[in-house]
Amino acid sequence: MTADVTTSRTVADSGKLVLPSYERPAGLHPPLDFTGYRSTALRHPKQPLVLLPHRLTEVTGPLLGDQLITATDSDLTTQHDGEPQGQRIIVTGRVLDTGGRPVPDTLIEIWQTNAAGRYRHSREHHPAPLDPNFDGIGRAITDSGGRYRFVTISPGAYPWGNHYNAWRPAHIHFSVPDEEARQRMVASFDIELTQPEWALGYNWDIVLRGRGATVFE
Ligand SMILES: [Fe+2]
Repeated sequence: MTADVTTSRTVADSGKLVLPSYERPAGLHPPLDFTGYRSTALRHPKQPLVLLPHRLTEVTGPLLGDQLITATDSDLTTQHDGEPQGQRIIVTGRVLDTGGRPVPDTLIEIWQTNAAGRYRHSREHHPAPLDPNFDGIGRAITDSGGRYRFVTISPGAYPWGNHYNAWRPAHIHFSVPDEEARQRMVASFDIELTQPEWALGYNWDIVLRGRGATVFE
């Protein structure tokens, strides 16, 4: 077999394309059943996972094109007639594959609370006000350099009932196994990205695979 280093494809002696299989590094991602995180008790798998072979879609991801996503999708402050309440922020970064290669044309979706810590969702119970000018949902497609960019408002903390007086800060929903992995989850403030008199800027790269992968639940 011969490996094509530039594309990570492998071609068997028969000439047939053989797609690579990506191992899930042991100990990197949090356990699916974690006693300190009560929500995992009912939703974690009870049987060993069945690993399916990677096919072209799993390796390359869907190619969505740029027609489906508009500029409004990635600017959560302009989706209604008025501006939402709260501190305006910019969140940007790159999606990276193993070896730090950028991943272009890939879809990123975000969801978050409004500035008062409330989701716009039918099962939301937190008695904080909804914002008529904020849905908390955004989408973006990475550019040729793997970069994405969202304009939104800083989300609020909210209670989540895991234990007495449990509150989630402005967050991403992960359980984090170690300090190094935790640091890969934190968006860093960037004064160069910050726009004067308008919005704070934050950088956050998403690494899909490998030892440096961003931790996913
Ligand atoms: Fe949340």
